[in-house]
Amino acid sequence: MTKIAVFASGSGSNFQAIAECIERGELNAKIELVVTDKPGAFVVTRAQKFNIPVLELTPKTFDSKAAYEQAVIKALREKDVEWIILAGYMRLISDTLLAAFPNRIINIHPSLLPSFPGKDAISQAFEHGVKVTGVTVHYVDAGMDTGPIIAQAAVEVAGTLDETEKLIHATEHQLYTKTLQQLFAQK
Ligand code: GRF
Repeated sequence: MTKIAVFASGSGSNFQAIAECIERGELNAKIELVVTDKPGAFVVTRAQKFNIPVLELTPKTFDSKAAYEQAVIKALREKDVEWIILAGYMRLISDTLLAAFPNRIINIHPSLLPSFPGKDAISQAFEHGVKVTGVTVHYVDAGMDTGPIIAQAAVEVAGTLDETEKLIHATEHQLYTKTLQQLFAQK
């Protein structure tokens, strides 16, 4: 069983998809901790429903980004976390955390990278008028959505932005859980 931490800053629908997949017995993992940089984010409410501990930190109350990440690393080590799963974590990861978990931090992004990195990727793609967009799971490096790609799924753009967003999120939930199943089966 792989011990993981999920990092999220917002709604946490990807967290929920992973937690439900584990509950169904389809993913051999345990979410030891949810880490959020936005105390009170909806992901906290979701985590509580699964009885999963949450570390809520406010980065600007630390002296430096390194000090913030050291506090996170301490909590992860206490729970023997092996993999960090970013799911809507709106903060770049710096060398402190990258060095502590080499090749063990992954992210999901709602576009076919390298197109449309950064914030608001779904509306960026929609406004650009692309006919196909999608979802990418990738290893995390110090850049913004730049690490090596692990898996992608395409989504056709048809209808409104709202409809496209719903399709993308449903695709994210499937692709993230499937990718985790494959990654954890390899180790
Ligand atoms: C997702 O679209 C994810 O790809 C992006 O942030 C969003 C998080 O959604 N990085 P949720 O908080 O998991 O619902």
